[in-house]
Amino acid sequence: MKRHLISAADLSRDDAVLILDTAEELARLADRPIKKLPTLRGRTVVNLFFEDSTRTRISFEAAAKRLSADVINFSAKGSSVSKGESLKDTALTLEAMGADAVVIRHHASGAPHRLATSGWINGAVVNAGDGTHEHPTQALLDAFTMRRRLASGASGAGQDLAGRRITIVGDVLHSRVARSNVHLLSTLGAEVTLVAPPTLVPFGVESWPCEVSYDLDAVVGKTDAVMMLRVQRERMNAAFFPTEREYARRYGLDGDRMARMPEHAIVMHPGPMNRGMEITAEVADSDRCTAVEQVANGVSIRMAVLYLLLGGNESAVAAARTEESK
Ligand code: NCD
Repeated sequence: MKRHLISAADLSRDDAVLILDTAEELARLADRPIKKLPTLRGRTVVNLFFEDSTRTRISFEAAAKRLSADVINFSAKGSSVSKGESLKDTALTLEAMGADAVVIRHHASGAPHRLATSGWINGAVVNAGDGTHEHPTQALLDAFTMRRRLASGASGAGQDLAGRRITIVGDVLHSRVARSNVHLLSTLGAEVTLVAPPTLVPFGVESWPCEVSYDLDAVVGKTDAVMMLRVQRERMNAAFFPTEREYARRYGLDGDRMARMPEHAIVMHPGPMNRGMEITAEVADSDRCTAVEQVANGVSIRMAVLYLLLGGNESAVAAARTEESK
């Protein structure tokens, strides 16, 4: 595995399976009364958030704390960034604090890459979402959720997603989640179809390892998972569709459409959801929707990523037992 996690495209099949299997091992600990492992004791993880976040920020914090790391949470609002401090000076400050890993979310695509290659810091850099570019840990937690839900047999561990048909629907243009998912799912052998209005399909999509459709009804009947994307108004500088009602009618998932999905198929959403827009409340609250499960799985995935990037090369649970017995 590389030293940083910037893009899902950086992960080989073996890397991705190692992260998923390690997360599976760590997830079993979530059932224990005491969830904490001593594995990253004495290490410092900094969460550097320049953009709003609920799930991703608390999930990285919970993951680092469950591994006993010291956690420093930095959010641009209320910091010297509001006084005009640059990424470089912020990074040098973190380095002075001795950060072993920096988890960064930034509104500019490429900011995590800049941090990883600048020489400003020595620690591992984890991309927690950069602009419209990538969100690799989201793709990993999505794959983890699919593997658990769609695998035949009792346990999802060890099963892969080869040949599974995954449909990603909505504002693909502004979605770092979609881009990371397309990379990772194709590495894992799944067949991905993007469905969006033509105005929300990214330029150059022909080179992505997936199919593109403009007709949701034509694909819902033959899919194993439908991943709904939020319409990202904050990144829109033009009118991409006529009205919200029109968008919801053609590209939203309601009870009728969900009923046309195969019986075993699941509905996914990275959150935050726009209920009534890309997904109705009926679908969001149904048993087939994995949105809340995805959040829980996110903690296990981020524990696995931090553990592996910070030098873990034996089984995470075995390593914890050795530490515990000291
Ligand atoms: C996504 C993000 O921030 O890219 N959310 C998340 O991380 N759970 C998707 C979104 O904002 O719509």
